[in-house]
Amino acid sequence: MTQGLSIAPAGGKVGIVLVGLGAVSTTTIAGIMAVRKGLAKPIGALTEMGTVRLGKRTEGRSPAIRDFVPLAGLNDLVFGGWDIFEDDCFEAATTAGVLESSMLAKVKDELQAIKPWPAVFDRQYVKRLDGPNVKKGRNKKELAEQVIDDMRRFKAEHKLDRLVMVWCGSTEVFMKESAAHQSIDAFEKALEASDPAIPSSMVYAYAAIREGIPYANAAPNLSADIPALLELAQKTGSPLAGKDLKTGQTLIKTIIAPGLKARLLGVAGWYSTNILGNRDGEVLDDPESFKTKEESKKSVLDYILQPNLYPDLYSDLHHVVRINYYPPRGDNKEGWDNIDLFGWLGYPMQLKINFLCRDSILAAPIVLDVALFLDLAHRAGFSGIQEWLSFYFKSPMHAPGLYPEHDLFIQLMKLKNTLRYMKGEELITHLGREYYD
Ligand SMILES: NC(=O)c1ccc[n+]([C@@H]2O[C@H](COP(=O)([O-])OP(=O)(O)OC[C@H]3O[C@@H](n4cnc5c(N)ncnc54)[C@H](O)[C@@H]3O)[C@@H](O)[C@H]2O)c1
Repeated sequence: MTQGLSIAPAGGKVGIVLVGLGAVSTTTIAGIMAVRKGLAKPIGALTEMGTVRLGKRTEGRSPAIRDFVPLAGLNDLVFGGWDIFEDDCFEAATTAGVLESSMLAKVKDELQAIKPWPAVFDRQYVKRLDGPNVKKGRNKKELAEQVIDDMRRFKAEHKLDRLVMVWCGSTEVFMKESAAHQSIDAFEKALEASDPAIPSSMVYAYAAIREGIPYANAAPNLSADIPALLELAQKTGSPLAGKDLKTGQTLIKTIIAPGLKARLLGVAGWYSTNILGNRDGEVLDDPESFKTKEESKKSVLDYILQPNLYPDLYSDLHHVVRINYYPPRGDNKEGWDNIDLFGWLGYPMQLKINFLCRDSILAAPIVLDVALFLDLAHRAGFSGIQEWLSFYFKSPMHAPGLYPEHDLFIQLMKLKNTLRYMKGEELITHLGREYYD
């Protein structure tokens, strides 16, 4: 065991500010409130239920992650957020239709107390939405200042020690990095000029990062993933994580694909289709928002299967991803995957996966984990991209020139090794020779 990092204690209250109080946000908040009251368990959250093995297998040391690293407690979390609709969190959760009304009724008072602050919003970036609860300002810089004011007021009102921001807003239209994104200077000038290269999500990300607040992006839009904001994050000490929560079909893809590759089974085609009927599905029905999502979903297989290293197995892979908006299903998405694979001597086989999942039920524990781990990272002095949180994302943020790690099992090892590193415990390599020497 070596000396661990010096990590500031987790005491005091933490404000989690969520951009967009839709299905994911309200399922997270209502869920945490239900768990606090002992009405349900936080299934799927590593911070609440996960363990970490320390030392040799013979030592029998596997503490709960929560007991190993100092994490904020669920009772110390306070929620706030922005939305273009004026509905309080109870109404928004009812509209989202993810949690049953009998469950929502038990946390109604707490949810009703959370009323969204006016949003930074422009239809140019989310074409299928419009709402009345929107900020006005002379330019985007002024809107960012208003977001900062909201956060400062919230912090003072609730006597909070620290904040974390998570973008849970709708998927914005597909955008590429441009000149305005290259440096803080260019970015701030573009904010003042209300340059169209700066979508709403970047205004929020800028506000959080300028305040040194950790920022995570649950959606696939660029948001903080541009050189200007990475530079700002290094300066202000803000840790970042994103993009696009790894739930549903992509979660399964990053579980199955590493297995096929491990056994060197070839893949000729992977056809993925989904039906989804919530507001997210409606936004993704717009081809420009879908393009952002499609890019995020499609890159996964290339990185896991590495066709450059295994051309005989994966260089001719046909990967198709479809999302169809189908209102009767609401948040209960159904995904089908057809995988055309081949084995010894090229003999073909097929694998069919039919996942009847609940998107926001899979997303909520991720929002909780990411918020608590970012708060931990901040207290441990980490800033910029937190690659160890790749585990939670479809398009993990990564250093320029480095390819992202998509394999769920490597990602988990990276996450747990980072926790061991923080505490000065030996990293686990799985070499295991010591048991036989
Ligand atoms: N549900 C999942 O499992 C999942 C998985 C991965 C990613 N995501 C992404 O997370 C995001 C949220 O998903 P959801 O299912 O909660 O969607 P949702 O449509 O239910 O909620 C999004 C909310 O954001 C609000 N919003 C949009 N733009 C805003 C802005 N500029 N400022 C403030 N509020 C704004 C909308 O009014 C809406 O209430 C989406 O981008 C989605 O693609 C969701």
